[in-house]
This record gives sequence, C-alpha cells and structure tokens, in this order.
Amino acid sequence: MTDLLVHDAAQVVTPDDGGIETVPAGTVAVEDGAVVAVGPTDEVVSDHPPGAASTAIDASGKVVLPGFVDPHTHAVFAGDRSDEFAAKLRGADYQEILESGGGIHRTVRAVREASLETLVSNLLDHLDVMLAHGTTTAEVKSGYGLDVETELRMLAAIDEADDRHPVDLIPTFMGPHAVPPGTDAEEYVDRVVAAQIPAVVDQGIAEFCDVFCEAGVFSVEQSRRVLTAAAGADLTPKIHAEEFERTGGAQLAADLGAASADHLLQATDEDVAALDEAGVTPVLLPGTAFTLATDYADAAAFVDAGMPVALATDFNPNCCSESMEFAMELACHGMRMDPAAALRATTANAARAVDRGRSIGRLAAGAAGDLLVADAPELAHIPYNFGVSTVETVVKGGEVVYSE
Ligand code: NIG
Ligand code: FE
Repeated sequence: MTDLLVHDAAQVVTPDDGGIETVPAGTVAVEDGAVVAVGPTDEVVSDHPPGAASTAIDASGKVVLPGFVDPHTHAVFAGDRSDEFAAKLRGADYQEILESGGGIHRTVRAVREASLETLVSNLLDHLDVMLAHGTTTAEVKSGYGLDVETELRMLAAIDEADDRHPVDLIPTFMGPHAVPPGTDAEEYVDRVVAAQIPAVVDQGIAEFCDVFCEAGVFSVEQSRRVLTAAAGADLTPKIHAEEFERTGGAQLAADLGAASADHLLQATDEDVAALDEAGVTPVLLPGTAFTLATDYADAAAFVDAGMPVALATDFNPNCCSESMEFAMELACHGMRMDPAAALRATTANAARAVDRGRSIGRLAAGAAGDLLVADAPELAHIPYNFGVSTVETVVKGGEVVYSE
C-alpha cells in the first residue's frame, strides 16, 4: 500500500547527476520511507490510486521538489554576535575582528561554557527554522571548541539533535577552525593530529573533517597535515578554501580527493580545472559574501565547466541565515545562476558534497522520501519570489513533518 501520494502537481522537479528535469502534471508515490514512483499523474495513479494511499496531498498548482540538502553549516553554537554585525555595518573587518579575539574566538568562549543540553537545545531551535524553509538534511560542523573535550561535546550535541529532530544531520569535525589564543598554528595542528583526531574517531560520530585553510589561519601545508591524518582515520576531507585570499587550498582539495571545496571566492581558472579533474564538488556560499558585502564567487566558472556546483547556507554566528531558499535566491539574484541550476545545486549537487548523491536530493525510485510542496506555479518562482518562503509542506521519509 502507498504510504504517501503527492498528486496532481503543476510540476515535479527531478534533479540528478545528469542535470535537472521537470515533469508537468506530475505525481510522486512513497512507500516505506522511499520514493517508489515519479511521473505523469495518470501513469503513477494507475498503480497508486489516491484513495488507497494512507496520506494523499493534492499539489494542484504547486511545485514538488526534493527536500533541500544544506552541505555546509556551523549550526551548533552558543552566545550572540549581533553586535559584531552592527560593527561590521560601521566598517569593521571580519578578519580584524577574528585577530582581536572576537568572531570565532568569541563563540569558542561561549561554547566552552555551554552544557551539552544548551548546545542541543540551541541546535534544535535552528533545525526548526531550517525545516520550515525546506531543509531535510544538513551537514553540521564542530569547531567552536578547539580542545578535545568541547569538540567532542559539540559532536555529541549534533548526534543527539539528529536523534530528536526530523532534519537528518551529517557531523563534521572541524577542530582546525581557528588557532586558539596562546598557541601557534603549527603547535595547534600537532595537537589536532595527536589528540583531537584520535579522540573524535574513538567517539565514532564524525564522518568528515574540515579545516579553515586561509591566510593568517592554517596554511596549505598545515591543512594537508590535518586532512591527511583525518583521511587515514576514515574521516573524509572537506576544506574551507580560497575565501579571502587565494592560498592553494583548492589544489589541496584536488590532491586529496576531498568530498568538497567550499567558499572558493578567489579560485583561479587553474583551481576550477583541478577541482573538476579530481571530481571535487565545489560548494558556494552566497550568504557569506552577502553578509560580508564582498563579491560573490564566480558561479559561472564552475557551471560553464559542467561541474556539479552545490550551494549551502554556511549558517553560523557571522552568517545568520538557516534558509536554503535564501541561498538559492542570492545565487540567482547575486551570482546570476539560472533557477534550475540553483535548484540542482541545493538538492542533487548538495547531496554529492556530503557523499549522499545516490540517496537524497533527488526524486527517483529508490531515493529517500524527502520532498517539498512549494506554493509556486513552476520552479523559477521559488527564487524569483525572494524574501518569502514558498515552502508549504515538508515530507521526511514519507512523513509530513512540517506544514504551513
Ligand atoms: O565558513 N570561515 C570560517 N568559518 C565560518 C565562519 C564562522 C564564524 O565566523 O563563526 C565560515 O564562514
Ligand atoms: Fe564555514
């Protein structure tokens, strides 16, 4: 018996590795948590009549699409940095704030003082917002502990929130997010490799390891040391690369076969080619450029090369938006991405950036029953109608988990 039938949609959007298609007048059937049929309504309903489905949703005049996958967030944290936002509006610089002990360091102080319960409860609040904006899976990084105990507590908080919330979470260890005061990068990397990575592996929660490879933070060689040790311990490499200055982080991602290279605002043509050749997914974060009022990454360079460009929110206390809808709107309005390309970037390509390209971010038989009904007549309206949410219903594993 069909558990869920979303029928008579104006358009069903089916992004995948090859591109993105739309089925006009379409229907999706879900059984046992997975999609079993997608296609024109008359074909799907002959095998899956609405009357025989446990739940039937009439999506007339609406768009059905896969749930968004957010492949880059720092969503577990404590404290507040809204005053830094105000200071930045008056001209303060992100890296100067960091160097003077604010920014990431300030969040580190708040997170070290926060209990596991506080971290979980803060994260659950953010997940509610993500879900209401259509995110059904999110990657979440540690990296506001910078010591073994707090990094493990952040990962434990991600694990517990994952158990308690419909949004599926993918945990990334990011001990090398900043150099803690009182030490230098070289010495801190020694500690990450000798103490943090083994403890994280022993805890058994994290799946990826990420590093902030940036001028004044971790060099390419230091990043290589961390990610090589991580890969040797079965943590898949990811990297924050070429954000403020071009350092060679993208080339490192290509060398190591990282799952993704993220930010890439300063990436050169050679960097694009190296990532393409190595099959590394480029993850662009337009919200970060928006809030820092910098230029956007050159999305066209990656799209024109035929690469599976992904988009993410980078949600963190500096970039305060949980919304993949907004990331998509910025990608279109700011980076001039085509709406269909942006939608593929928030679903199938985003899933690829977290090594889940087969199972989520798509609507095809066998994929997870994670989908959205958007109050939009066709997909372009989702980013075209900016500053509002078009997400009306969110389905996770075949269950309705949010409705407006
Ligand atoms: O991806 N660049 C480093 N990390 C985050 C910012 C984290 C923070 O400012 O708290 C980023 O933008
Ligand atoms: Fe980040």
